[in-house]
Amino acid sequence: MTDRETLAGCLLITGTPGAGKTTVSRLVAERLPRAAQVDGDVFGIMLVSGRANMLDDDGRWAPGPEGQRQLRLRMVNLCSVADNFAEAGFTPVADSVVETRAELSFIARRLRARPLMLVVLCPPPDVARHRNATRAVETRVDYDFAPLARNQRRELGDLGWWLDSGEQTPEETAEAIVAEAARRAVVPEATLRAQGWAGRLT
Ligand SMILES: Nc1ncnc2c1ncn2[C@@H]1O[C@H](COP(=O)(O)OP(=O)(O)OP(=O)(O)O)[C@@H](O)[C@H]1O
Ligand SMILES: [Mg+2]
Repeated sequence: MTDRETLAGCLLITGTPGAGKTTVSRLVAERLPRAAQVDGDVFGIMLVSGRANMLDDDGRWAPGPEGQRQLRLRMVNLCSVADNFAEAGFTPVADSVVETRAELSFIARRLRARPLMLVVLCPPPDVARHRNATRAVETRVDYDFAPLARNQRRELGDLGWWLDSGEQTPEETAEAIVAEAARRAVVPEATLRAQGWAGRLT
């Protein structure tokens, strides 16, 4: 144990593809005394066969019913693994695209670790596009994620901490999250359980 301060609960870092979730969550975890990075994409990659195509014929993000089930399965696994780490005294730094309130509600009902701190990385769209276009080819996505960014803003715009990392280095973003997430990112329990959107995704 070092003298670095711990962060109680679970960090959930979201944003569009290319926003920097995986890069930053790694750096956040490195700055905490006991922390684990839980990258939601890993649970998709674990599917060796039977993996649904999430894109339509025009290359747009459009998961069908099986794709939706597999995305939910990703969230279920993300929550289980995050909780396992939390129960063992590691702060889970979970990284996943969360697009809607229904998805956030689904995660909140599965996840036991509290408080839930939601950080939405929201660099300007051209910055996210540039980051995506210049990262390792195996992590790059080819589809237009502008609709996803709009949905996220509409659905989650009033929740958690929207952090514009457009002019930051990854390290600066990570430092800010470690220092301020407990104050700025906690989603109140009452909000997570609010009527109207809990339960739309089962
Ligand atoms: N300030 C910054 N914060 C985060 N990443 C940055 C920053 N500046 C440049 N980058 C680069 O942008 C890319 C972000 O890619 P990363 O894989 O972290 O995105 P992601 O949000 O996890 O995307 P996906 O949803 O596809 O997994 C990396 O190549 C990273 O080095
Ligand atoms: Mg990632």
